[in-house]
Amino acid sequence: MGDIVVSIVAKLAEYTVDPILHHARYLCCFNNIAGNLPNAKEELELTRNSVKERVEEAIMRTEKIEPAVEKWLKDVEKVLEEVHMLQGRISEVSKSYFRRQFQYFLTKEIARKIEKMAQLNHNSKFDPFSKIAELPGMKYYSSKDFVRFKSRESTYENLLEALKDKSACTIGLVGLGGSGKTTLAKEVGKKAEELKLFEKVVMATVSQTPNIKSIQMQIADKLGLKFEEKTEEGRAQRLSERLRTGTTLLILDDVWEKLEFEAIGIPYNENNKGCGVILTTRSREVCISMQCQTIIELNLLTGEEAWDLFKLNANITGESPYVLKGVATKIVDECRGLPIAIVTVGSTLKGKTVKEWELALSRLKDSEPLDIPKGLRSPYACLELI
Ligand SMILES: Nc1ncnc2c1ncn2[C@@H]1O[C@H](COP(=O)(O)OP(=O)(O)O)[C@@H](O)[C@H]1O
Ligand SMILES: [Mg+2]
Repeated sequence: MGDIVVSIVAKLAEYTVDPILHHARYLCCFNNIAGNLPNAKEELELTRNSVKERVEEAIMRTEKIEPAVEKWLKDVEKVLEEVHMLQGRISEVSKSYFRRQFQYFLTKEIARKIEKMAQLNHNSKFDPFSKIAELPGMKYYSSKDFVRFKSRESTYENLLEALKDKSACTIGLVGLGGSGKTTLAKEVGKKAEELKLFEKVVMATVSQTPNIKSIQMQIADKLGLKFEEKTEEGRAQRLSERLRTGTTLLILDDVWEKLEFEAIGIPYNENNKGCGVILTTRSREVCISMQCQTIIELNLLTGEEAWDLFKLNANITGESPYVLKGVATKIVDECRGLPIAIVTVGSTLKGKTVKEWELALSRLKDSEPLDIPKGLRSPYACLELI
């Protein structure tokens, strides 16, 4: 019975005496606690400034800041703003008729804010703080000079359709040098990325003398993959493991001869296993030897498209002299619908005199044939002009 009485008294004391003690403590401590507020605030501001400096440095290194850091900075700004307002109320309190009551409530709030600031200060050691940001992917390539030629719409659509049909996992895009394969493959890659047909779209240049290490590194860089392996085969195995996870479209640009996918680390013959390939090449045989399920040919531009592209690059307008337009038409004819010839000749002759245009045309007609098929000598001779 005695024990029960003691415990009831103790319980009552918790609810009655303790709050009174607390109350008294808050009143006595008001000045003390309020005096600590600026120090706590200053300390947190210093920490915030150094975190902000680290953020700026990380951004300069193109790194991405961890969400926890961003949230911390937001919380700090919010608390500092609240403390600023609280300081305003503290300076007002002495003028108030109900000074004691206000002090009591303010002391509680000040204590809470000091504790919150100490907590934020304590939680300011972030690990990790930031991480290397992903490369922008196909968005990196500009489309500002890309012209959507009507005669190529179907090629563009066929490429996209073949990508949607995951069973056609290796697609060949064939066309003459300078016909626009790289330009078109970039656009299709950008669209595939936009439509999220693949998680990642990666472009790598192969070129006439392929360098396995360079191809591996180009792909790895764009996937954010770091190789520890020193050998080509080690890297190939690592890359192949990475390409088996998620879905990736690889655009292998400018392939001249059969490429060994296994040597690079591209998983092969694994339909629906995530990795799609577009290869651009001048040779249909390359597509056949690399077992492309779909081969798409890129044709030359129509006369009208060639003229429009030339006008755009040579800056021919309605006001251009009649004779100049006459010479221009003949030059465009010599280009035979090959985009690279049209763009190069057009932009070189831009702003030049009619005489210079005529000279270019006669040199073009007289130029020595190059070691290329007969019907296509003149567009490539256009490039020799420059
Ligand atoms: N659709 C297009 N719109 C505008 N210019 C183009 C287009 N296609 C090709 N060109 C021009 O032709 C040049 C050669 O094209 P490119 O794609 O490099 O050819 P390929 O890869 O077939 O050798 C480009 O640098 C560009 O100036
Ligand atoms: Mg190319």
